Amino acid sequence: MTETERKILTKLVSEPPKFNEPMSRHTTLRVGGIADSIVSVHSLGELQRVVQFALERRLPILVLGEGSNLIVRNGGIQGIVLKLTGELTQINFDTQEVEVGSGTYLPHLLVKAAQRGLSGLECCTGIPGTVGGALISNAGSAEEFIGDRVRRLTILTHEGELRVVERDEIKFGYRQSNLKELGLVIVSVVLGLTFDEPKAIMERIHRRWRYRWVTQPVNMPCAGCIFKNPPNERAGRLLDAAGLKGLRIGDAQVSTIHANFIVNLGNAKANEVLELAELMRRTVKEKFDIALEYEVQIVGKDE
Ligand code: EPU
Repeated sequence: MTETERKILTKLVSEPPKFNEPMSRHTTLRVGGIADSIVSVHSLGELQRVVQFALERRLPILVLGEGSNLIVRNGGIQGIVLKLTGELTQINFDTQEVEVGSGTYLPHLLVKAAQRGLSGLECCTGIPGTVGGALISNAGSAEEFIGDRVRRLTILTHEGELRVVERDEIKFGYRQSNLKELGLVIVSVVLGLTFDEPKAIMERIHRRWRYRWVTQPVNMPCAGCIFKNPPNERAGRLLDAAGLKGLRIGDAQVSTIHANFIVNLGNAKANEVLELAELMRRTVKEKFDIALEYEVQIVGKDE
């Protein structure tokens, strides 16, 4: 990014962008090289201005949620890393529907919906991501997904136009969607929920939380499950049965609690995490002849 581009970008937004920012500060696994820029946009107007500028200058855009399902390679990210905040995190309830800005922190939405007596998002308990990130990867449990609740979305297209996308255009699968093809940035989503007692909803949320606390390394830097569950199998079970728990490359370690998680013991680097992940994949292929697919998003340049 040129000095002129930096100056223009700074004028387009209300919060000063961060330039040459280590992505390790913005991912829950705490790894990742330098991003050219991290730009927080506080309104639809700011978002449209930055996207327009990026399109004109052919600067790549990566929308960053909470960085909780993300591995950024050591070489970092060119162009603009976008964070959606302010007006883009609004939550508006309307009887059994809720319209949510895609920058909204998912646990915050879950609690607000439960307080209103609106059920349907409990499968997203404990996912420390944004609504937009959850939509892209159709987050949830192994059986229920946020995509099941989607009625329509507002997106910025790859040409920078604002467009409403109806449910029948959207394809959700297990931990996948066609949303990146449909648009450059998800602005907001309308979710359909069902009425229930707030107490009953909160109890379900607490039960799922307790399960996660016992079965996942929730208090360690990690990026959630590394691999998708193969059809009729569980990646964690296979990786565990292959004897991989506790295996280390540098400070990257296969969690001793859940074998489908890699934890950062302090100073892990992205290349160590990715080497370890490949070793996990190879071992499962050799032992069980099953090819695991990545669930985490892997972005950025090699060193
Ligand atoms: N298992 C082992 N060893 C392990 C881990 C798991 O034997 O080290 C066994 C468990 O005993 C259980 C089975 O594997 O019988 C499944 O484990 P778990 O209940 O933990 O569920 P999972 O399939 O591993 C899925 C989602 C998680 C989600 C949990 C709970 C995927 C890839 N993972 O995990 O999502 O939190 O269910 O709902 O679908 C994520 O997407 O990042 C994620 C963490």
